[in-house]
Amino acid sequence: MRPVPRLRPRSCNPVAVKHDAELRWWLDEWLPVLQAGGFNPGDASELLDGEPAAPTYEGRRWQQARAEVRRVLKEAAIEDESFFDGKVVVDIGPGPLGFPDACPARVSIGVDPLAERYREHGLLLEGSDALYLSVGAESIPLTSGSVDVVVARNSLDHVDDPQAVLSEAQRLLRPGGTLILNFDVDHAPTATEPHALTSERVRDAVRDMTIVHEATPDQPHGGAGQVVVMVARTTMSSRGG
Ligand SMILES: C[S@@+](CC[C@H](N)C(=O)[O-])C[C@H]1O[C@@H](n2cnc3c(N)ncnc32)[C@H](O)[C@@H]1O
Repeated sequence: MRPVPRLRPRSCNPVAVKHDAELRWWLDEWLPVLQAGGFNPGDASELLDGEPAAPTYEGRRWQQARAEVRRVLKEAAIEDESFFDGKVVVDIGPGPLGFPDACPARVSIGVDPLAERYREHGLLLEGSDALYLSVGAESIPLTSGSVDVVVARNSLDHVDDPQAVLSEAQRLLRPGGTLILNFDVDHAPTATEPHALTSERVRDAVRDMTIVHEATPDQPHGGAGQVVVMVARTTMSSRGG
């Protein structure tokens, strides 16, 4: 069995504090639910058309991952189940939930500064074709105009600089590419969600794109405020950079 690294000593750096709190949440709150036979979020079976929970931890991890792909499509009101097929897809802030691993893209990439620490703690799915970049999404080492879809679900208020992340997402997208955003607005900043976003601020940051869908589902991710889902397309003639 792989030795599990100890959590690093406490730091005063707010980004390091945020990352430690984030990792703690996955280890202390999320992982035990999956290990005990359940799902977190708990509606994975429902999203998988009533599929019963697999008897093994690994089986449930893959079910959760497949459920997250369905969740992203459902929330974005994209009815085409094959939407991601054959595409280059980047997921900003996937955590260890497994969206990049289960996404049926041609190339599926998760961008998360904690990816390496998630791996060290055995939280990433093994045997996956997805690639993880262990960097902040403010500066992603991929060339401009090389990505078909960027997903940022429940991560925009977690990043260091939401404006820079939205610019970077647009730089990466090809002409006609799709940005799928799902973020909390109107909540007080917390250790892991340091940004109080507004729909107006996000709309302004993607003003060069066409917003094709916007909705405000009920349940905020962080327990306060409101969720906003926004799907935007780059124009067919636009270029990254
Ligand atoms: C609440 S989790 C989101 C998990 C998943 N996307 C979901 O649908 O619930 C937020 C993730 O954002 C990541 N994150 C924090 N700062 C980031 C940054 N600068 N760039 C990209 N991801 C970041 C965190 O490490 C964490 O894994």
